[in-house]
Order: sequence, then C-alpha cells, then structure tokens
Amino acid sequence: MNIKITKAETLKAKPADEENLGFGKYYTDHMFMMDWSVDEGWHNAQIIPYGPIPMDPASMVLHYAQETFEGLKAYRNGDDILIFRPEMNALRMQKSNERLCMAEVPEEIFVEAVEELVRYEKDWIPTSEGTSLYIRPFCFATEAAVGVHPATSYKFMVILSPVGQYYPEGVNPVKIFVEDEYVRAVVGGTGFAKCGGNYAASIIGQVKAQDAGYTQVLWLDGVHRKYVEEVGTMNVMFVVDGEILTPPLEGSVLPGITRDSCIRILRDWGYTVKETHIDINDLMEWTKTGKLQEAFGTGTAAVISPIGELNYKGNEQIINNFKTGPITHKLYETLTGIQWGNLEDPYGWVRKI
Ligand code: COI
Repeated sequence: MNIKITKAETLKAKPADEENLGFGKYYTDHMFMMDWSVDEGWHNAQIIPYGPIPMDPASMVLHYAQETFEGLKAYRNGDDILIFRPEMNALRMQKSNERLCMAEVPEEIFVEAVEELVRYEKDWIPTSEGTSLYIRPFCFATEAAVGVHPATSYKFMVILSPVGQYYPEGVNPVKIFVEDEYVRAVVGGTGFAKCGGNYAASIIGQVKAQDAGYTQVLWLDGVHRKYVEEVGTMNVMFVVDGEILTPPLEGSVLPGITRDSCIRILRDWGYTVKETHIDINDLMEWTKTGKLQEAFGTGTAAVISPIGELNYKGNEQIINNFKTGPITHKLYETLTGIQWGNLEDPYGWVRKI
C-alpha cells in the first residue's frame, strides 16, 4: 500500500512522567487515515498530523452509529518494537464490520496501517514497567445521509496513545458490581462485535457501579438474566475447584484476544478450561463457600485484572481475601512476559516490526 506521509510541523512534548500515564490521556503526533467509497474501494492512505477531522453533520456515523473499533498494544524492548497478534484484531474488525454492514478492512491494510504508524511514532512507546503504546484502529460511516441504509463511504483510522494501567487499582484486585436491571447484549444482536454502540449502551451500568463504589460492572445475559457474560471492558474467568470457567462465545460476548490467549496458555499448563454458562447464583454461593478460588478479567486495556469482590443485589462477597491469586498472578506474568519479549513466545503471537 502506498501511504502518503505529511509530517507534523511541530511535535508535542512527550509525557514526562511515565509512571502516571493513565489511560487514553495522551495522543501521539500523527495518525493514519484511509477512505473507502463504492467506486474506489479503499484508497487515499495517509499518515498525517494528529488533529480534528472535518465531518459533515449528516455523516451517518453520527446518526446510526455504524462504527467499529479495535484495541491492541505495542511494546518496546531495547531496539525492538513488538506488537501482539494484530491479525486477530484485523479478523475481529472484519466480523464486526460485517455485522454492521460496513465495508470490510482487509487484513493486509489493517496490519500495514498499524505497523507503519507505530514505526513512525516509535519514540512515543513508553518503556517503564506496565506501560505500552495503545493502538486504536477504528472505522466509521462518513456518507452524508440521514436515511437508514448501509453507508456508501467510510474512513478507517488509527490513533496511538501511550498508556499505563487501565484501572486506578493497577494490578490490584478490583470491585465488581453485578448489574441486574440493564443488559448489555442479546444473542442475535451486536454483542460479539466491537462497536461503539455496545459501549454506549453499557455506560449506564458502569455509572451505576461507580456510584455504588465499584470499579466496573458485570453483565448478565439478556434472556434469563442470570448467566454471567462479561465485565464492561474485559472478559471474565473464574477458578472453581481448580478448574477455569469462562462464559462461552455464543454471540453476546466479545471474543477477546486476551481471552483466547489465556485459554491457550492455561490449557498448556494442564488446566481444564470450560467455556460454559455460569449462573450468578452459583457463583455467589461458591464465593461464600470458598469453592471460587480466584476471579479475573482479561482484556487488551485491562490485561489480567484480579477481581476481589462481587456485589449482586446487595450481597457482597470477597474473593480470595481480596488478594491476587496464584493463577491470576502467573498468567499476568506469563502473558506480559511474552508480550514484552522477555519470555519465550512458543505460540508465534508477537511480531517484531
Ligand atoms: C480494550 O481492551 O482494548 C478495549 O477496547 C476496552 C476498552 C473499551 C478500553
């Protein structure tokens, strides 16, 4: 692909304190942008200075939310720049776009756009422990039309943000509020797609959880209102009597790439991992009796995040004395070790770019 590069006239100062990057507060000097139209397909690939983009107020994304996005990270190890399983993100975006009747971004374009932009902005990759360069590819409908139909034009963009931990708790356990009023997704809907609309619909649950003093919300299924699905920004896994249980991918749960990687690693370690329906009532009971040994979330932004407390309908249960359990800890160390290039990568997941 031919990418036209326009260099920013002035470069921004990089955040001085890598220990306090937070998440999504800083953006690099440049971004990638490409257009799609019915006549030309994908064209006009550019790396340009980071900044506002002109939009027609009738752009369909602003009205009917044809928008999908991805999240992955780049790491710096000495002179090496590493990214983790970008082809999986490309594939997931294709599935999301298919569900939302949007133009699909071919894997080669997705991966090349990500790699070229990250290389161009390599000086922005933080190096302190627990930091990375978060990569946010996204795609949206630009056709100016207020009639509902698949848009005839789209943009695919990539922006980059140096980040630290997603949660203020860092790698310490988070408190989770189980939502029993609202639902995030139903089978047949868009739950498996990584689209902005899913997150818009979830914010009310997150606000409710935070108002109650919890970090995140745990969603239950939309039909029976009792099977665990996912947390606002991550998939979930539970260690029950030495086995790992996680909700199955049946259409309403996001197929997380960290989820997939953890399942693979855990099975290689000899654990039984069951992708199965988990009744919240059983989970609360297992928490009370200690049968539930550990709980953790998995996600690109959140990495592996221990869960220390569940609140379901006012019943508060502490998990593993609010401590990070041994499996959660080992998984975090192993996954981040592979991602950073500090541990051998037997899976071929890490790409040196
Ligand atoms: C990610 O983990 O990359 C996500 O996209 C979750 C997010 C909404 C921050």
